[in-house]
Amino acid sequence: MSLDRVKIIDIPKITDVRGNLSVIENDVVPFDVKRVYYLYDVPSGTHRGGHAHKKLYQLLIAISGSFNVVLKDSSGNTKVVTLNKPNTGLLIPNMVWRELEDFSSGAICLVVASEVYEESDYIRDFDRFLLMDK
Ligand code: TYD
Repeated sequence: MSLDRVKIIDIPKITDVRGNLSVIENDVVPFDVKRVYYLYDVPSGTHRGGHAHKKLYQLLIAISGSFNVVLKDSSGNTKVVTLNKPNTGLLIPNMVWRELEDFSSGAICLVVASEVYEESDYIRDFDRFLLMDK
């Protein structure tokens, strides 16, 4: 499916002299939130991801630091998005290949997901992804 379905989402920010607060509710993401997890202590030079999902939607946020997300669809389109702000999220719908790389020191990637963890929802082989997305 096309990368047009990938979206940058502004997460509401409540600012005052004590600092910022950002909140993700169901009007911010186009799905009911079933799971939240986070990647941290990622060694420099490491790649994460390297898969697509059959059904899962995710919102990725650089809660701290920065990293790049490489997105691919089955038509050969590629897009690289740098995430580096705690109030900016990247919505990745189902059937989009993603790779996460170039994590800065101390980077934390928060992931808000539409489903609980299910290995059978993963497509971990890129050639299989290309075939399945026809
Ligand atoms: P994976 O999703 O492949 O990591 P990433 O895409 O960030 O590189 O998951 C890594 C391992 O963790 C894999 O063995 C599955 C397991 N896992 C869970 O048990 N529950 C979860 O919610 C997630 C996301 C992963």
